[in-house]
Amino acid sequence: MNAKPSATPAPSELQSFWMPFTANRQFKANPRLLARAQGMHYWTADGREILDAVAGLWCVNAGHGRREITEAIAAQAATMDFAPTFQMGHPIAFELANRLAAIAPPGLDRVFFTNSGSESVDTALKIALAYQRARGQASRTRLIGRERGYHGVGFGGLSVGGIVNNRKFFAASMVPGVDHLPHTLSIEHNAFSRGLPAWGAHLANELERLIALHDASTIAAVIVEPISGSAGVLLPPVGYLKRLREICDKHDILLIFDEVITGFGRIGKPFAAQAFEVTPDLITTAKGLTNGAVPMGAVFASRKVYDAFMQGPEHAIELFHGYTYSGHPIASAAALATLDIYAREGLLTRAADLAPAMESTVHGMKDLPHVIDLRNCGLIGAIELEPRPNRPGTRGYDVFLKCFERGVLVRQTGDIIALSPPLIVEPADLARIAEVLAEAIREAA
Ligand SMILES: Cc1ncc(COP(=O)(O)O)c(C=O)c1O
Repeated sequence: MNAKPSATPAPSELQSFWMPFTANRQFKANPRLLARAQGMHYWTADGREILDAVAGLWCVNAGHGRREITEAIAAQAATMDFAPTFQMGHPIAFELANRLAAIAPPGLDRVFFTNSGSESVDTALKIALAYQRARGQASRTRLIGRERGYHGVGFGGLSVGGIVNNRKFFAASMVPGVDHLPHTLSIEHNAFSRGLPAWGAHLANELERLIALHDASTIAAVIVEPISGSAGVLLPPVGYLKRLREICDKHDILLIFDEVITGFGRIGKPFAAQAFEVTPDLITTAKGLTNGAVPMGAVFASRKVYDAFMQGPEHAIELFHGYTYSGHPIASAAALATLDIYAREGLLTRAADLAPAMESTVHGMKDLPHVIDLRNCGLIGAIELEPRPNRPGTRGYDVFLKCFERGVLVRQTGDIIALSPPLIVEPADLARIAEVLAEAIREAA
């Protein structure tokens, strides 16, 4: 049973919580409060049913309120609430690492636990830098990210990320020695592509240009999201990721895939690396790892990377990095229960079956007013709207709001509406999402 929703707070009771990535004053004047969740739905504090078209925030992949997960959390909390993983251990974290290794791309079977996507990214970047030093390539200190990339909000992730509003306040405090590849969105060449766009694999060759500028001997790693989610669903052109892998191999540079969104079944395989048949050296994850029920992240490392650290005296700590809550027992229990559900219900591959329905849902919006692009892959979709003159983002926000008022939660980034429903979504849910979204887009015209 879900807990009883709390009473709707008065506006004066909303002031203390400084909300993340939120227009606080606008929100607090007209709050949107979710109080309960089950399956594909939320219920607002005033009892309205909301169809969840974004899996919370790209994380509730098995749908809300899964009893096995809540029971596992409760049982673990009662058995052992916390145990350290610095020079100590507990079996459930090892069990979880083994279970994750079993679904990871071949060779990426070493797992470092974190508490979020941002921490996973900063962990992977630190592992990449420390790896280069451990193998005697200490001059490889540069990191290469990508324009419009989102890698969380730690200083490392911000620095390799490419979203201007996230970066500009911290311009003077970025990690030094970072450069960026161009992003892969081209509405001019690829508008209304179904699935991966055909144009743009050559954009990966920009890495050769950066290598010619900086020299490979200064570059530790390249980090990209296989599909950028937060910047508005930017898809990799056909052949682009393979080309990146080839260039990294040629120059002995590590390739990191940030799969915080694409991990755990979002595009029809456990990881996008498997769906796109490109194996990176490190994968960052979080979100779907615990179905969003408890904060947890994980970095998958290749044997090559891990083994580079396993040298020197055995009593020496190999990597001076970790979090109090790395491998937290309650998070581990939630993750194990989540993996059980994914396996039993075939959820890590279900997006492949539903991809055609998702594609029709998204591309059914083609003739609506101001739609300038539609993008889809697996159970990810995006509707890009033409910005209003001098008021970018307002049309997207209006659509988001009208959808919410009509009972569908979508995600808005500027004038882009993103869809990423829980992997348990049914075609009837997609039809409802399409109907409500179409009405909202027409009204916001
Ligand atoms: C690709 C990617 N990396 C990192 C993050 C940051 O994750 P978190 O918000 O858990 O720190 C996100 C969050 O959306 C993400 O999409």
